Amino acid sequence: MLEKLNEIEQEALASLAVIEDEAALEAWRVANLGRSSPAMNVFSQMGTLSKEERPLVGQRANQVKVALEKAFAEKLEAVKQAALAKSLATEQLDVTLPGRPAPRGRLHPATQNLRRVLDILAEMGFQVYTARDVESDEYNFQLLNIPPHHPAREMQDTFYVESAQKEGSYSVVMRTHTSPGQIRAMREFSATNPQNPPPIRIALPGMCYRFEQITARSEVQFNQVEGLVVGESITFGDLKGTLSDFARRMFGQHARTRFRSDHFPFTEPSAEMDMECFVCGGKGCPVCKKSGWLEILGCGMVHPTVLQNGGYDPRRYSGFAFGMGPERQIMLRHKINDIRYFWGNDIRFLEQF
Ligand code: PHE
Repeated sequence: MLEKLNEIEQEALASLAVIEDEAALEAWRVANLGRSSPAMNVFSQMGTLSKEERPLVGQRANQVKVALEKAFAEKLEAVKQAALAKSLATEQLDVTLPGRPAPRGRLHPATQNLRRVLDILAEMGFQVYTARDVESDEYNFQLLNIPPHHPAREMQDTFYVESAQKEGSYSVVMRTHTSPGQIRAMREFSATNPQNPPPIRIALPGMCYRFEQITARSEVQFNQVEGLVVGESITFGDLKGTLSDFARRMFGQHARTRFRSDHFPFTEPSAEMDMECFVCGGKGCPVCKKSGWLEILGCGMVHPTVLQNGGYDPRRYSGFAFGMGPERQIMLRHKINDIRYFWGNDIRFLEQF
């Protein structure tokens, strides 16, 4: 039996010596120190031994057990150290590698173009004036010479704010255009000096809302930029000069413009400014529908009633106003045929700008 214990010890130590990783070491532990390992079997066979043999074998078996446990602990530590050394050597952090670039956001194409329009107008002396998105029926329509049953209301289907609708007054609306800002600005400026209101040259940007069927050509929300100039002896010539200059700054020095008569209740006379089609150069193509011209903005001389409503005496002051759609300009520029891309939040569209 003592002989057998020596064998067990030597075999176990020999097989331990060649182990190099933790998984093999664990297998060794089960095989050599586990409940059914040869060394442990010796303990369970103690009952079969003679009285004289028993203490000798017991002592020796304990020695073997302790020796194997010690050898196991030492090996475990050695294997762990080796694994650590290996990972330190091979998994080094290479601080010279270039970093991974963080994806950068960008401005929405509508914002980009809106800023460009405002930059150009700023160069031309227009200050930005922000008016409100939620308006009263009075400012959005009535003070702009559009009384409750005026047919011009049909041009702009309106979102009425529900709470107001319940009261039956229909008085709070999402603005359908930026023109109510004209009244807000004129009233604010004229209030500073009612006898001698100061001249005005402002740009009014912002989101407008219309109760429309959403199609490729119409959306329920879109930006507009309104311009308003008021002073003594402002003429239609100023309007044409200013807007033609704007078109050249916006679309290039060779941009040709033309004015067609139109109608808006808040301007008189009213006009539409067209630009020579920049796709075909005026020859006629699908983008300009063969006309050679693209509609860019609505404009006109501020109606005397509107000046009056703003606190400017129409006998002394005159002015012009215009309104344009920055998204429409991008669509024309990049031949985008569906306005829904703008607020659809499809990153594949937005990333192209
Ligand atoms: N408010 C008009 C529209 O939304 C545009 C416009 C503004 C026309 C100013 C004339 C003067 O269609």
